[in-house]
Amino acid sequence: MTAPTLPARVRIHEVGPRDGLQNESTVIPVEVKAEFIRRLVDAGLDTVEATSFVHPKWVPQLADAEELFPQVRELPARLPVLVPNERGLARALDLGARRVAVFASVTESFARANLNRTVAESLAMFAPVVARANAEGLAVRGYLSMCFGDPWEGEVPVSQVVEVAVRLRELGCGELSLGDTIGVATPGRVAEVLTALNAAGLPTDGLAVHFHDTYGQALANTLAALQHGVTTVDASAGGLGGCPFARSATGNLATEDLLWMLRGLGIETGVDLDRLVATSRWLADRLGRPSPSRTVTALSHKES
Ligand code: HMG
Ligand code: MG
Repeated sequence: MTAPTLPARVRIHEVGPRDGLQNESTVIPVEVKAEFIRRLVDAGLDTVEATSFVHPKWVPQLADAEELFPQVRELPARLPVLVPNERGLARALDLGARRVAVFASVTESFARANLNRTVAESLAMFAPVVARANAEGLAVRGYLSMCFGDPWEGEVPVSQVVEVAVRLRELGCGELSLGDTIGVATPGRVAEVLTALNAAGLPTDGLAVHFHDTYGQALANTLAALQHGVTTVDASAGGLGGCPFARSATGNLATEDLLWMLRGLGIETGVDLDRLVATSRWLADRLGRPSPSRTVTALSHKES
């Protein structure tokens, strides 16, 4: 049997400052966040999701977006931000954001918990956001949460993923990121969802994957996605993360764990693993607890 072809290069979409820090119980000073983003860019990450322009009462951890974004916007990287609605987009545009992401749920329960809307109402909320962002020349990513399982609804039918993905593309989203928000996916299921999306007219080159590592499947799932032709993978430095509106979500796939695997497979990323490990250790000191990343732990204890 010949080995499935793997891409020569993968773009890492770093979500630590947003998906990671949105879930921290401690208040992190804005200077630390700005320094974190600077260090991530210095390590070679060219796409770093910086923050969210959501309701500050819903996500108090990112309530400093207005203060943070101007401190990082000149960095030589793509710095997408999350915007749920027109208010969020206006805030992002005022500060010069050039890339935004809307975030849909595939399930009704999470749409209600995360956006205070039904799925249909949330898509209606995104429509003018995506239209205006496109008209202003911004790149628009569309997230889909709960693509594999939902804490309230259990296993999620593939048809629901396809339906929301097609709608987001019709609204004008470019890249779509498939979220395994609570980390329940397994590799066969990943291949099944990607195949169904392709069959619905969504080619793999417009699809990214976003795995949380709750059941330790994130790397296996990533490999399945790479074998399917996916070349954009979301990850969070040090394995930070979770979701305040889905308590069963643990951290994202750690960027360092991803890099270790990609390096072993000879896949280029442009990211310096040692610098990234140093950054995650630096942040862990500020958060007062060690990084959950296996690779950060292993490289921190390596004999020198
Ligand atoms: P709502 O309470 O229904 O809002 O929340 P509303 O539209 O009824 O407005 C209520 C008030 O909020 C109004 O103020 C608005 O102006 C204000 P008032 O008139 O009462 O004074 N408001 C805002 N203020 C600032 N910025 C805004 C904004 N919007 C309204 N953007 C809303 C609806 C969508 C705003 C709320 O549910 C929300 O902010 N949700 C965000 C939740 C969130 O950030 N979740 C985490 C990110 S998603 C995720 O982590 C998953 C992902 O990682 C992928 C995966 O793993 O699956 C992406
Ligand atoms: Mg997430």
